[in-house]
Amino acid sequence: MYTLHEETKEITDIILAARDKAREEVGKSEPEAQFAKPMTWPVQCTVGPGLEGAIACESKVGYVNGSKGMLVYRGYDIFDLCAYSTFEEVSYLLVHGELPNTSQLREFNCSLARFRSLPMTLRRLGGFPVENINTMAALRIGTMMMRQRLSFRDSQSARPDPNTAISADEDSIPMETKPMGEPHAIYEFKKKQLERPKDARETQDESESVQSCMHLISGMATIAAGVARMREEKMPIEPDTELSHAANLLYMMTGRKPTPIEERVMDVALILHADHGMNASTFASMVVASTLSDIYFSVGAGIAALNGPLHGGANEQVLRLLQEIGPAAKVSSWFEQATREKRRIMGFGHRVYKAYDPRARILGPLAKFLIQEKKEMRPLYNTARELEKKVVTTLGAEKKIFPNVDFYSGIVYAAMGIEPELFTPIFAVSRVSGWCARILEYLDNNRIFRPRAMYIGEFDKEYVPIGKRGAKKNARKK
Ligand SMILES: CC(C)(COP(=O)(O)OP(=O)(O)OC[C@H]1O[C@@H](n2cnc3c(N)ncnc32)[C@H](O)[C@@H]1OP(=O)(O)O)[C@@H](O)C(=O)NCCC(=O)NCCS
Repeated sequence: MYTLHEETKEITDIILAARDKAREEVGKSEPEAQFAKPMTWPVQCTVGPGLEGAIACESKVGYVNGSKGMLVYRGYDIFDLCAYSTFEEVSYLLVHGELPNTSQLREFNCSLARFRSLPMTLRRLGGFPVENINTMAALRIGTMMMRQRLSFRDSQSARPDPNTAISADEDSIPMETKPMGEPHAIYEFKKKQLERPKDARETQDESESVQSCMHLISGMATIAAGVARMREEKMPIEPDTELSHAANLLYMMTGRKPTPIEERVMDVALILHADHGMNASTFASMVVASTLSDIYFSVGAGIAALNGPLHGGANEQVLRLLQEIGPAAKVSSWFEQATREKRRIMGFGHRVYKAYDPRARILGPLAKFLIQEKKEMRPLYNTARELEKKVVTTLGAEKKIFPNVDFYSGIVYAAMGIEPELFTPIFAVSRVSGWCARILEYLDNNRIFRPRAMYIGEFDKEYVPIGKRGAKKNARKK
């Protein structure tokens, strides 16, 4: 029945074995009790700091059952999608809501192929000192550069009237010649702002939004690969129209066509990272989208949030941590000291999962499979296994802290020869599908995000003129 991955059957077998183990331990996927019945707004829920437990919207995109360790995209179990599907199909599924049939997939792949080649964007990106800047910053700049081509702001109807628009020269006037330039330029700027559409859908119709999503899903891989090349002071490589999305990503990064195993492993990694509920980067991108800013700005916010070490940046930190520990025999003493110092162990723990992360269930065995061919990486893998055992038996039992998606993804990428600085950009290259799917879904019933803070400050303070303020401790320095 499933002939797609015949060449990489051993990878499918690893995924199915992980699925069987998960089902044996936690059963089949099912919603938590509170999600089993339809809800009516306003919803009652218990909210903790960091919006823990808050329900901000309804979604059909994906579901995480944290207590059982289950992940579902549009009704499909993540294990099945990894075993039988591809990143292209999964992206289609997330954005359109259904798995594609053959002709839909063909058309989708054609669009991705069309958007994959970004010579102009890469040339512009090359004007930045990419080799010296954070890879996620470079990815974000590149993604913003993509915006120049395809955004409702740049569509014909949104083009400024040349008689009233601020020219590049006028735009720079306020900084240079204040008296002459400022009033005129500011006046024009305000006027332009008033002309902004009240509703994004007035100018950004459905097909244009979906086109922008495909542009981003396809193009961000090209940018990430371009960043990888520029960091090595090499020219970016044109995509190969014969290759899949995962294979192209690896090819454009390395200049070498990947083996079927490498392509499949990257494909599985991309599927695994594509969506994950209202995580910080998804939420960040949705918050920006909810202001009716466009999808490129929204995805830019997602990239920024994903960069943090508590989120997507953890995978890079994991590798560094394993290198810091050294051989597996040192895990015990390292762990004791880390516990004494109350250190956070990267790659463990999750806001939602209080059970084994299903993504780690797949990536762990994949890492083991890949290092068979990479003798030099075995010590690192052994250290990871030992650390996992230590954390699971201590923090797992005590605080339900288990490995998360980031724990083994770094080893998987490193085994494929990818530099740690590129781990998080690869995460973004995948997660952009989830960001786009959730943004499109949210905009259908948009309400600007606006939570409140609990004010715990003072009232009725008497204003003291600056000259009379004595030396006081900076309130931030406690
Ligand atoms: C992901 C993460 C931010 C979730 O945090 P959270 O839901 O806010 O959890 P909390 O910060 O409330 O932590 C709860 C308890 O577990 C501990 N804890 C959580 N993650 C831990 C970790 N990775 N290592 C050690 N202890 C951890 C906390 O110290 C806290 O202990 P306490 O109750 O004794 O104070 C957190 O687990 C973390 O920092 N993990 C490491 C970074 C990482 O791998 N991120 C990728 C996530 S996919």
